[in-house]
Amino acid sequence: MARRHCQALSCCLVVVLLFILASSSSASTLEHMCKYVATTRKDIGYDYCIKFFQANKTSAAADNRGLGVIATQISRAAASDTLKRIDTLLASEKDKKIHARLSDCRVLYSAAVNLLEVAANLNAVVSDTYTCENGFRVLGVTSPLAAEDARFLKDCSIALIITSTFW
Ligand SMILES: *[C@@H]1O[C@H](CO)[C@@H](O)[C@H](O)[C@H]1NC(C)=O
Repeated sequence: MARRHCQALSCCLVVVLLFILASSSSASTLEHMCKYVATTRKDIGYDYCIKFFQANKTSAAADNRGLGVIATQISRAAASDTLKRIDTLLASEKDKKIHARLSDCRVLYSAAVNLLEVAANLNAVVSDTYTCENGFRVLGVTSPLAAEDARFLKDCSIALIITSTFW
């Protein structure tokens, strides 16, 4: 039981990181994003993706970056709930082997909660960088920070990709 939960969690994290990486192309919809997820991850599928986002009503009107934020929030809440459930199970579990497995899962879920927080923060940082660049675009002038912003976005993406390899 616990093992299956852990595997489901790592799948979920891959998806969240995919969302964040995919969030560079703005102006899309929930349906678009879920179609993208369904083609990238056949094991997850369109219907599951839509159902996943129903946990937050604002997802219906969110753009890609918003969906990335919402996805990390939903996943983080789920990981926190599971962490509480693991603590309850640990308190009453007498079997040493099962206890040890549950402890392994506890480490994993604690890491997940922290990782998702980092992912959400990185996503916010990436989003701010786009806002910075858009400010110049709206004025119709070339951004004096274009090189720095582009480089920073690449650096952040590398950070996200490396973070995702932990799973
Ligand atoms: C839904 O997502 C928005 C935007 O990220 C967030 O501000 C809000 O707290 C979320 N609502 C719930 C119920 O999680």
